[in-house]
Amino acid sequence: MCGIVGYIGKRDVAPLLLEGLQRLEYRGYDSAGIVIAGKSGGLKAVKAKGRVRELEARVPKRFAGTTGIAHTRWATHGAPSDENAHPHLDTEGKVAVVHNGIVDNASELRAKLEADGVVFASETDSEVITHLIARSQAASLEEKVREALKVVEGTYGIAVMHADFPDRIVAARNGSPVVLGIGEKEMFVASDVAALISHTRQVVTLDDGEMATLKADDFRTYTTSGTRTTATPETVEWEAASYDMGGHDTYMHKEICEQPDAVDRVLRGRIDDKFSTVHLGGLNLDAREARGIRRVKILGCGTSFHAGMIGASLIEGLARIPADSEPASEFRYRNPVVDPDTLYIAVSQSGETYDVLAAVQELKRKGARVLGVVNVVGSAIARETDGGVYVHAGPEVCVVSTKCFTNTVVAFALLALHLGRIRDLSVADGKRIIEGLRALPEQIQEILTQEEDIKKLAADYAEAKSMMFIGRVRGYPVALEASLKLKEISYIHAEAYPASELKHGPLALIEPAMPTVAIVPDDSLLEKNRAAMEEIKARSGRILAVAHREQEKADHTIVVPKNEDELDPILMGIPLQLLAYHTALALGRDIDKPRNLAKSVTVE
Ligand code: F6R
Repeated sequence: MCGIVGYIGKRDVAPLLLEGLQRLEYRGYDSAGIVIAGKSGGLKAVKAKGRVRELEARVPKRFAGTTGIAHTRWATHGAPSDENAHPHLDTEGKVAVVHNGIVDNASELRAKLEADGVVFASETDSEVITHLIARSQAASLEEKVREALKVVEGTYGIAVMHADFPDRIVAARNGSPVVLGIGEKEMFVASDVAALISHTRQVVTLDDGEMATLKADDFRTYTTSGTRTTATPETVEWEAASYDMGGHDTYMHKEICEQPDAVDRVLRGRIDDKFSTVHLGGLNLDAREARGIRRVKILGCGTSFHAGMIGASLIEGLARIPADSEPASEFRYRNPVVDPDTLYIAVSQSGETYDVLAAVQELKRKGARVLGVVNVVGSAIARETDGGVYVHAGPEVCVVSTKCFTNTVVAFALLALHLGRIRDLSVADGKRIIEGLRALPEQIQEILTQEEDIKKLAADYAEAKSMMFIGRVRGYPVALEASLKLKEISYIHAEAYPASELKHGPLALIEPAMPTVAIVPDDSLLEKNRAAMEEIKARSGRILAVAHREQEKADHTIVVPKNEDELDPILMGIPLQLLAYHTALALGRDIDKPRNLAKSVTVE
């Protein structure tokens, strides 16, 4: 997904911006570009298809300046190319714009501009913004940008420079993240704190409909209609070092291995032994309100939707409130009935996923109470919801989610315990769950020590063209998530089914070339799961079981430590992250940046 970084201050800007772009590389991109205000006036731009290092190689020796903006592009309108890379400059080379998001009415605006004689240099939707700004007759840059944005429909996070206003960068946000980094006599603008965190941890996150003017020693924020807004810088807790690989070969491996610490973080300071419950400071839901909830509806996309499925089963199990999880991308288009007694929960690692944000906005418009289970503090979804639980996984850099999935499920366990103890969950059951939660970090560590064995299994299963994942009830979301992880990074086709559904269709696929991964916890459904494995064996299918003890019917078993039944799904997913990882590694895939995928999907 596209990335923006900009700087105004006293330092040499090009190296700063290139470093910022490198820190955004994890989001996935296909081309990059940089523009600076040259010392003798005027703007100087360099662009390159491909990686940031290719852009760096093209930056001339004499490229000095102290103000600039830069971009990594993920193609939407027009193929990856030098021309389509941002920043986009107007015909006179006075205005430069970097843009994240999509201009929905780009073709209409382009046709009008072309009819007026404007010659476009790229096929992008973004370039229309540049020409609109350049053609504005307004006196200030802020007014020019405001005028241009008035006719733009769609989503944007933009940063703008103008040769006639060299003392400033103007930024604006609508549906695509923009953060300002506040330094000592220097200011940054970026689409992600990753790009600026090694320079400052003081940030201001723009709201939708907000703009900002950055000068070297000053910044101000205001709405697109010009009203001043108050913006108090917040301190980002994440360390710059959290964005480094820390001795691992990939971010995915680092993030899988970080899970014991990450789970420890989501639990820290929240457990209340006296009442066998948990404190969730930001929930904004009092006990009376919690007792009034008749239903819980969880909304998320991809991995977060799967985490929501486990969350729903935890809430239903511990708090006895009917709960389910639905892809936010589907929910928002089916004109859902919004019920005042339903608690809606939006789940998102990034807090910026457009489909989730749009679902939250639609729910709020209809008067619903919406909580967030979010990793990125201050993100759009965190700000748009009425309260919620931060999952405290730390920054997740790999495109595919691992530690955030685990921490999100743990955050749901905390929420379920909290709701349960306000309702009918007994003290004894509260204690039981707390003990289970406390055991998780060590048990995850124990699973991670099996990595070498899992690696050997992965080498074996990497030959498969297609794989089946099955699980029942609590095990089914684990199967769904494990199959998603495998297909995302190894590109092996994978299907997930409830084990109970096998004989209603998917059994037809079973043959020696289609291995099955079976989630087989030691719970009341153990015998049912064994029967499903029996059916697969009878069709000469190979089975890899994830279980609490060796499974006779399976060709291989990964044995994981037993926790409470409700919390077992958290542990059973972990070896399958490693299985996906080592399978992808054996196949030589680009693990941290799988093809066609972006870390944060801020467009529809
Ligand atoms: C898969 C993955 C995606 C995200 C999804 C939602 O590994 O990471 O499926 O879970 O795009 O993203 P967030 O959680 O940021 O809303």
